[in-house]
Amino acid sequence: MRMTRVFSGVQPSGNLTLGNYVGALRQFVELQHEHDCFFCVVDLHALTLPQDPEQLRAKTAEVAALLLASGLDPAKMTLFVQSHVPAHAELSWLLNGIAYVGELSRMTQYKDKAKDRKTVTAGLLNYPILMAADILLYQADLVPIGADQKQHLELSRDVAIRFNNRFGDTFVVPEPYIPKVGARVRALTDPAKKMSKSSEVPDSYIALLDPPDVVRSKLARAVTDSGREVRYDPKEKPGVSNLLTIYSLCRGKTVKAAEGDFPGVGYAAFKEAVAEAVNDTLRPIQARYEELMSTGELRDILAGGGRRAAEVSAATLADVKRKMGLLAL
Ligand code: AMP
Ligand code: TRP
Repeated sequence: MRMTRVFSGVQPSGNLTLGNYVGALRQFVELQHEHDCFFCVVDLHALTLPQDPEQLRAKTAEVAALLLASGLDPAKMTLFVQSHVPAHAELSWLLNGIAYVGELSRMTQYKDKAKDRKTVTAGLLNYPILMAADILLYQADLVPIGADQKQHLELSRDVAIRFNNRFGDTFVVPEPYIPKVGARVRALTDPAKKMSKSSEVPDSYIALLDPPDVVRSKLARAVTDSGREVRYDPKEKPGVSNLLTIYSLCRGKTVKAAEGDFPGVGYAAFKEAVAEAVNDTLRPIQARYEELMSTGELRDILAGGGRRAAEVSAATLADVKRKMGLLAL
């Protein structure tokens, strides 16, 4: 029996945060041990919104290096850049003949992103078709995603089923893999919101590449609550509870055990301890990141990943072309 295949994509935009690390990257690292995993830095998706070309190039390398620095191992999984494998753009075009404008324009992410813009590119509308192509090319069984991407995955499934009905069994119909609610890390400046890499307020998140003194000062400014007790109580004390969550995740402790580390400790000293825990978590990631960026290693890993991805996806693309009636030589 073939191993379960996993596919996920990460956009090269914003700064990967501690939230992404605990909510996504750590799951990726676990999954690579059990399944045949493909992870893709989706630079073509980024082009659906205006990008500065130099920054997009730099971010693509940065995100790939951070995925590796977080523990993805090229001997265990395949990491590559979407634009390095032309089959993604090709299948995406072919699926343009399958997906409906109606279903695309109903996507909530499309509506959100389109509503404040004077002009809306065709790419923004077609974004989920490219995502379907990413997944279906690899015959992925499982797709780790955040809750906000569920609707896109549902569309990928609909496209796969429609194609299979029209042309015969071709695509595996993928299932979402939404990790059991691990802890959600909230914004430091406003615990009502999640910590987000696309936030305009850098103080609201801890980026994986934040230097130690930046981590300390962001945490020193993080909102706490009235009272002076360090206690886990998300209703009454959302700020302190978020910091306890962060501390527990970084120290690998339960929240209860984390609470027990701070009897009678004031907020200022507590925040310093949280900063220590975060910096201890980020230190090895940042060290590995520097190593990957300063040697030719990243390039070699991405070249190897792109070759494997191209090999694996070629069979699906050829099958689709044949079934849709394209002339082969
Ligand atoms: P995003 O950065 O919103 O595109 O999310 C990418 C992935 O990181 C998704 O799987 C999210 O569930 C996860 N993630 C993002 N922010 C957080 C957060 N604050 N806490 C937990 N997981 C998060
Ligand atoms: N749309 C996803 C996001 O913004 C990124 C993505 C692109 C993706 N292609 C994918 C995720 C395929 C899972 C599978 O987070």
